[in-house]
Amino acid sequence: MKETGEWTNHVELGKWADLFVVAPCTANTMAKMANGYCDNLLLATYLSADCPVYFAPAMDLDMYMHHTTTTHIETLVNKGDIVLPAGIGELASGLVGQGRMCEPEDILELISTQLATVQSFSNKKILVNAGPTYEKLDPVRFIGNYSSGKMGIAIANELQARGAEVHLVLGPTSASNIHSSIATTHIESADEMYEACNAIFPSCDAAILSAALADYKPATMADQKIKKKTEEYTLELIKTKDVLKSLGAIKQPKQVLVGFALETQNEYDNALTKLEKKNLDFIVLNSMNDKGAGFGKDTNKITIIEKGGKSHTFETKPKTEVAKDIATVLEQYI
Ligand code: CTP
Repeated sequence: MKETGEWTNHVELGKWADLFVVAPCTANTMAKMANGYCDNLLLATYLSADCPVYFAPAMDLDMYMHHTTTTHIETLVNKGDIVLPAGIGELASGLVGQGRMCEPEDILELISTQLATVQSFSNKKILVNAGPTYEKLDPVRFIGNYSSGKMGIAIANELQARGAEVHLVLGPTSASNIHSSIATTHIESADEMYEACNAIFPSCDAAILSAALADYKPATMADQKIKKKTEEYTLELIKTKDVLKSLGAIKQPKQVLVGFALETQNEYDNALTKLEKKNLDFIVLNSMNDKGAGFGKDTNKITIIEKGGKSHTFETKPKTEVAKDIATVLEQYI
């Protein structure tokens, strides 16, 4: 009851807010938030909020390190709340360590960056493929390539961060930093990549195919290990299916299709030809002549070529940053 005698709805604030920031978030409040307590207005608001919640822990260093605190942070993050990690510096106790509330200007910057990014691909479904393919010769050998899948995984993570529902189809690679909410289908061969991508693409708004598929596979796979009986051994190879081209053939007007081109010569012309032949909206060109680009590296240098030939070359950057550039161009198409 307000002093006026008017009834106050205790969940009104939680329902009203578009965003909820708990800063500072004490060890006590965090423990209560993690365990569903509701003994003050803040907690009633928290429990009834249906908007993104950010919390900025602030406490003394030993409290911050305490396993109950780390467990509570983990519980809240797993529930979907966003932690604004404490900074290092002088604390109220006079001790120096981690536990200072994230600086207000950093909180503001983090939230505005996330808000700007979260919106762009919400309700969009995007297929990404990445990594190499392995084409089996016999039970113990394959034809493969050096692709690490890092570029495609960075793209998948970036699209997810911008609100997309991402489906990643990934060839055999040891790269592992895939965001947990990305649906990942692991495949091995170009045929499996073809099947998976063709099954997923029709329900997608866009697809970015960055995988380094084998262009040829052995005509037959030996049932048993091939023995070295002869001085020479000739391998018959047959073409694999072109996944990107097959998606280009079934692409609907509203769908956006993006490919990659890895070139060593006549880069621009070859990439533009691929864009046209495979019915793409834009193509991301990597040249093997650029030092910062290539398989396994953490950096890449790309040129984006759009339909009609308009192109834009970017600086050499970490693949995570390159992914942002690609996502930003894709935003203009979706
Ligand atoms: N691609 C594909 N299926 C294949 C081969 C390539 O989907 N069997 C896709 C790649 O994922 C990439 C694009 O096609 O997005 C271009 O790949 P690239 O290897 O540069 O070119 P190719 O089309 O294979 O042509 P070439 O090897 O003659 O350069």
